[in-house]
Amino acid sequence: MGSLCFNDGVQDDRQPWWKAATFYQVYPASFKDSNDDGWGDLPGLISKVDYLHGLGVDCIWVSPIFESPQKDMGYDVSDYQKIYAPYGTIEDVDALIQTCHERGMKLILDLVVNHTSAEHEWFQESRSSRTNPKRDWYIWKPPRYDAGGNRQPPTNWRGYFAGSTWTWDEHTQEYYLHLYASEQPDLNWENAETREAIYEETMRFWLRRGVDGFRIDTVNKYSKRTEYIDAAVTDKNSPYQAAPEMWCNGPRIHEFIREINQVLAPFSAVSVGELSNTPDPKQVLPYVSTRARELDMVFEFSVIRLGNGDLFTGKYIYKPFTLSQLKALTEKWQCFIEGTDSWATVFCENHDNGRAVSRFGDTSTPELWRASARTIALWQATLTGTLFLYQGQELGMTNMPASWDISHYQDVEAVNFFAEAVASRNEQRIQATKHGLSILARDHARLPFRWNEDDNVGFTTDSAKSWMRIPREKGISVESQLGDRTSVLEFYREMLRLRKRFQGVFVFGTHTLLDRENESTWAYIKEGFLTTKDGHRMRGRALVVMNFTVERAPLVDVSAALGCAPESTRLMVTTACGAVRGAKDELSAWEGRIYCDFGPEICI
Ligand code: NOJ
Repeated sequence: MGSLCFNDGVQDDRQPWWKAATFYQVYPASFKDSNDDGWGDLPGLISKVDYLHGLGVDCIWVSPIFESPQKDMGYDVSDYQKIYAPYGTIEDVDALIQTCHERGMKLILDLVVNHTSAEHEWFQESRSSRTNPKRDWYIWKPPRYDAGGNRQPPTNWRGYFAGSTWTWDEHTQEYYLHLYASEQPDLNWENAETREAIYEETMRFWLRRGVDGFRIDTVNKYSKRTEYIDAAVTDKNSPYQAAPEMWCNGPRIHEFIREINQVLAPFSAVSVGELSNTPDPKQVLPYVSTRARELDMVFEFSVIRLGNGDLFTGKYIYKPFTLSQLKALTEKWQCFIEGTDSWATVFCENHDNGRAVSRFGDTSTPELWRASARTIALWQATLTGTLFLYQGQELGMTNMPASWDISHYQDVEAVNFFAEAVASRNEQRIQATKHGLSILARDHARLPFRWNEDDNVGFTTDSAKSWMRIPREKGISVESQLGDRTSVLEFYREMLRLRKRFQGVFVFGTHTLLDRENESTWAYIKEGFLTTKDGHRMRGRALVVMNFTVERAPLVDVSAALGCAPESTRLMVTTACGAVRGAKDELSAWEGRIYCDFGPEICI
């Protein structure tokens, strides 16, 4: 766990390894299939660790690989100590750990312990009778009855995947709670015996096998308010209401997370928690303050949620946003750690969102796709905090083609939200949901990773067997981009190197937003300390300036922004290549640049 360092742009020798590390999320079902069944697997991943190593990845996070009925792609675990057979075996995990460690890389697993699968033996026991010793391991409540004597759930809460958070159990005549699908019952963290089983049978089991830590799913939902009362009615058209105040950041959450910390600490394991519904920095800080001994890092979702409608009922009713909103949110989550002992994460993709280039960039032509994907890389690689990449982001992978119809969406959330829209018989809502899904759905990020230009994209050997359809566009693959200096992939590789080399500025530096109302270009200053070859510490400043439009854009006054004489400023990076490079004082379409007052002039 972290040592006590305050974030003031100083890169300190006492900093833990994971701050300057690049993490890379693998969604195993879609990464690399080694046995021709159309489903990615661990031997496939092992065969590609060298690719990730070459890219500059320090730590791999693998989304859930455990035994599961796959109602939510493995985020419904039925046995934490077994591997879902299509992924491989526990020996494959050992081999993956070894493969990473031999290359000086780390491996973290996804810890999903807010809920289990309904098929987990703990739940099978819990639901077997009201007197079973594990009855209290889950959250069971008696029904309510309305004036007409009809049975009703204990509260009016809406679940993430639409419908009620409660499912009736005929056998024991009570409801159980599930914030997600009905096949994902919530564990009762109030029960100390349950918590100890989680720590021992999920966490320590894998830590003893050598994993380096966990990405912790839904980390702020373990402590629920225990009154179990109705939420305020915010959607008059539904019997079910958004109720995050009832089950998010609840009264005992920090106590539970400190216990988690005590499990991780003896293994010096890293933790990154998924912290949803918490957009207030004051509320986030206690989770990631080093002194509080809770989590090393969290994912805060304000940036990645841009474009989403209301998180509950209207999530897939797309809400357009402006560049200044994107800037302001980035600034907010860059600056919240300054002067504190906490730490930030940097990411713009994961398995729960549409692809970044399709949301923040421009995919209307191959040139604009490339230019905007490279500028997104520049943006991410120059931000303070630990950088997380999602598989395929480094290739500029895009959302599904617009021509694909709704039958290609397989994710439980997409399917349920669309079914809900259809049930409303409101044509406008149906069309709006379709549109929102085409930009935001979780399915987009789950399309097979593209290794080559073949019909099977090198993911599998028979595209007909692939669990998700394989798009056919050319040019978005490792094969087509590797070695091409104008590609998205090679740009990511260069940027990851540069970020490490000047980490005092890019990873640890302070962030100052310039010209915040400008809706075309985005400019910020990164400032921190760098150590010269002869061991001196010097202050370094970088100006990151990016054109987020297809129009040429005037360049800011670089020397004024950097606060130094024109002859001391250097162009360190431009995303543009050859003929499309902008003029000296003008950025071309989607061009991004870094100017600095230190280091060599490197044009990549
Ligand atoms: C967050 C995960 O990222 C998501 O994929 C999953 O559906 C929910 N948690 C439930 O585990």
